[in-house]
Amino acid sequence: MVATTTTGMFLLCFDALCPCFGSKRKDGSEDPVLARGATSSSSFELRSISDRISGSPLRVPPSPSRFSLSSPPSRNDPLNLSLEQVIKLTRNFSPALMIGESYFGKAYRVDLQDGLVVAIKRARKEHFASLHAEFRNEIALLKKIEHRNLVQLLGYIDKGNERIVITEFVANGTLRDHLDGQHGLVLGFGQRLEIAIDVAHGLTYLHLYAEKPIIHRDVKSSNILLTEGFRAKVADFGFARIGSTEPGQSVIQTDVKGTAGYVDPEYLRTNYLTVKSDVFSYGILLLEILSGRRPIEVNRGAREKITVRWAFEKYNKGDVQSILDPMLTESVNEDILNKTFDVMFQCVAPTRADRPPMKEVVEKLWKIRRDYAKTQNRAEVAL
Ligand SMILES: *[C@@H]1O[C@H](CO)[C@@H](O)[C@H](O)[C@H]1NC(C)=O
Ligand SMILES: *[C@@H]1O[C@H](CO)[C@@H](O)[C@H](O)[C@H]1NC(C)=O
Ligand SMILES: *[C@@H]1O[C@H](CO)[C@@H](O)[C@H](O)[C@H]1NC(C)=O
Repeated sequence: MVATTTTGMFLLCFDALCPCFGSKRKDGSEDPVLARGATSSSSFELRSISDRISGSPLRVPPSPSRFSLSSPPSRNDPLNLSLEQVIKLTRNFSPALMIGESYFGKAYRVDLQDGLVVAIKRARKEHFASLHAEFRNEIALLKKIEHRNLVQLLGYIDKGNERIVITEFVANGTLRDHLDGQHGLVLGFGQRLEIAIDVAHGLTYLHLYAEKPIIHRDVKSSNILLTEGFRAKVADFGFARIGSTEPGQSVIQTDVKGTAGYVDPEYLRTNYLTVKSDVFSYGILLLEILSGRRPIEVNRGAREKITVRWAFEKYNKGDVQSILDPMLTESVNEDILNKTFDVMFQCVAPTRADRPPMKEVVEKLWKIRRDYAKTQNRAEVAL
C-alpha cells in the first residue's frame, strides 16, 4: 500500500514537471487496449502495431522464425523430466544447488548428463492458483518461443504439491547484481548499450510474436540475466502475464508488490494492460542501466528518491552527465547521452500513446550505438 501511494504521488509530481508529455499522438490514434483476459483482441492489437510501424525501413517481420536472431535452436525437446527426476537431480532441492530466490520461488542449477545446464524453479504455494489456471494453457506457446534475448522455457511440471518451471540456465547472474558491482567489474557504457538493445530485442519479439502478443508485465533489472559474454536475456516472461487475469483479483496490488517504480501509471489508473506498459517499465530499466540507481532509492533525500524524477530535473537543466552512473570512468559524448536519455524519457511518457513501440526503441538505440562506435573510433585514433 505504501508503494502504491508513493508511486501515485510520483505520478502527480511527474505529470506536473513534464507538460511536454501531455501532447497527443499526431495521428490521434489510441493504442488498442487489451482487456484483462480478453485474448480475442490480441491479434487485432498485433495487426495494429504492425500497421503503425510498416513505414519503417527496418521492418521486423512478425514471423518469429525470420525475426529470430538466435543462434541455431538447441532443441532438447521435449525436455520431459518427471518430478521424481527433478527431485533426484536437485538432490531434493539442496541449498547447495540454489542459485537464486525471487518472489516466485527458489531456483536451482542442474547439470544434465548431456552437458545441458538448466535452471529449475520451484514455485511457492501462493502462486499455484495462477500457475494452474493459466500457465498450463500458455506452456505450449511459451516453449515455442526461441530468441537469443529471451530465457528459453524448457518444461513445466504440475504434480501433487509441486509446480516446477524448467528453463535454460544463464551463467552470469542478474543485471541488478552487476549494476551493484557484485561481480567486481563495472559495465562500460558500450556494454550497457548492448544490454539495453538486447532487452529491447527480446521485448520486441514478445510484443510482435505470432498471433498472440505477449506482455511481460514485470520488466526489471532482476529479471534480466547476463551470459558469460555479457549479452542479456529477459527472464520470467509468461509468469507475469498469468497472475492477474482473474477478474476481480487485485491486479495492481499484486504487481506493485514486486516492482514498485516500474509499473505503467496508466495501467495503475485503468487496470488495462498493453504492450506499452512494458515500454514504460523498459524506460525505467534503461535509466537504471545508465544511472546504476534503482527506480526508487529509499535511502536518498526527497528530491532524489524517485530516480526518474531526479533524472528529469537534471536532464531539463542540460546536465545529463550527472545522471550517468558515477562508477563509469569513461567520458561519454554529450550528444550520445542526450539521444539516449531522449529515448528513455519517451518510454516513460505518462500517456501510452506518447510512448514508442519497442521496435522503434530498438531502431533508435541502433543509431545511438552506431554514433557511439564512431566516437570510440575517433578516441582510438586520437590515442
Ligand atoms: C514424458 O514422460 C512421461 C513419463 O515419464 C510419458 O508418459 C510421456 O509420454 C512423455 N511425454 C513426451 C512428450 O515424451
Ligand atoms: C561473469 O563473466 C565474467 C567474464 O566472463 C567471469 O569472469 C565471471 O566469473 C562470471 N561470473 C559468474 C557469476 O559467472
Ligand atoms: C544536450 O542537451 C542539452 C539540453 O537540451 C543541450 O543544452 C546541449 O547542447 C545538448 N548537447 C549536445 C551535444 O547536443
